[in-house]
Amino acid sequence: MSQPILILNGPNLNRLGTRQPEIYGSTSLKDVEEMCAKRAAARGHTISFHQSNREYEIIDWIHDGIDNAAGIIINPAAFTHTSVAILDALNMFNKPIIELHISNPHKREAFRHVSFITYAATGMICGLGVNGYPLAVDAMADMLAAGSDNS
Ligand code: DQA
Repeated sequence: MSQPILILNGPNLNRLGTRQPEIYGSTSLKDVEEMCAKRAAARGHTISFHQSNREYEIIDWIHDGIDNAAGIIINPAAFTHTSVAILDALNMFNKPIIELHISNPHKREAFRHVSFITYAATGMICGLGVNGYPLAVDAMADMLAAGSDNS
């Protein structure tokens, strides 16, 4: 059995669907999880999908993923712009990492233009709404099929 693709979501994303829908849309995180599971299954993969408002939980999932995940797709939400600790955890994960944002942070406030996570990411998807999630799963499946690491 191959390892799942770990999909991590940071703070406030549990409110997706009702949280600032003009920015983040009206799809719930549960629906996003289903979209990802379907796309992963179509590509012969499984997912392990999580959300937390607590930085340490995200770090613990990354640590667990070092031995148990094929790749990581992460929307760190506001931790993107603050968390050296999440970056340090991702730097121990030597497999593909996709940083994902529903909105385009570069079109928004200046403090969102800085991402600590980008230093560890293989690639980044942003500004495509929740459609970015299945696209990230596809991109991850392509990288895994090609045997890419995170160099
Ligand atoms: C976000 C963008 C972040 O700046 C913000 O803090 C979020 C969500 C996005 O998905 O667009 O919570 O990561």
